[in-house]
Amino acid sequence: MGKQLQGQVALVTGSSTGIGAAVARALAEAGAAVIINYHSDKSKGDAEEILEEIKSAGGDGFVHQCDISKEEEVLNMFSAILSRYGTLDIAVTNAGIQQDAPFLEMTLEQWNAVIGTNLTGQFLCAREAAKEFKRRGVDGSRSKAAGKIICMSSVHEVIPWAGHVNYAASKGGVKLLMQSMAQELAPYKIRVNSLAPGAIKTRINKDAWDTPEDEKKLLELIPYGRIGAPEDIAKAAVWLASDESDYVTGTTLFIDGGMTLYPGFADNG
Ligand code: BGC
Repeated sequence: MGKQLQGQVALVTGSSTGIGAAVARALAEAGAAVIINYHSDKSKGDAEEILEEIKSAGGDGFVHQCDISKEEEVLNMFSAILSRYGTLDIAVTNAGIQQDAPFLEMTLEQWNAVIGTNLTGQFLCAREAAKEFKRRGVDGSRSKAAGKIICMSSVHEVIPWAGHVNYAASKGGVKLLMQSMAQELAPYKIRVNSLAPGAIKTRINKDAWDTPEDEKKLLELIPYGRIGAPEDIAKAAVWLASDESDYVTGTTLFIDGGMTLYPGFADNG
């Protein structure tokens, strides 16, 4: 891979494991310094390991603990980034959680926790990133854009999901959050896009693939016939962060092996 992000600084929220970790590695490989954000103490070790890997490959970055649903903590994280690097070029607002329950049993705590991290958290991080991008403006030695925001959405920004209404509502919200930000920020040369993964093999959906029967059932939803890998998402994140996608804003890129193609209709209907 070329060094198309050389000299740029990237924040990846929720990057101690899963899709976030793969995105952090890939951005670092493309030359960006990467801030690895993690939420709870139990993820600290994983976050530090990713940073070690990045550093031993000649990259740079730091780890920062922060609950992105808390405004104060987000502001502190941005202060830490700006005091270390002076600016920011790329914000991947990736951190997300699931707290599943049948609708009739879903508690307000479960609703608020998922909306807080998946939607409010992306709003807070994107807002702080956009303030810095606008302040600095375009610096042609870094990128053609003043900044790039990449939201982590999901196929569930369009696919309804029984038993997961908090999650589906949060990702449906991300769709219009992203598009409205893109519309408002384009005049400042800030690009805003979403990645919408389908079933990617990570901890968040282990129950859906960890036995051969579960995996077979999940594959029925994926016309392309394989479960995704975090790297499938990471490669697209590098492209969306780079000048190769300079004319792309306000778009959701589905990376789902065809999950959004209504596979049930392939031999039916
Ligand atoms: C969810 C996963 C799920 C996938 C496809 C993702 O956004 O986090 O749990 O497997 O969508 O349904």
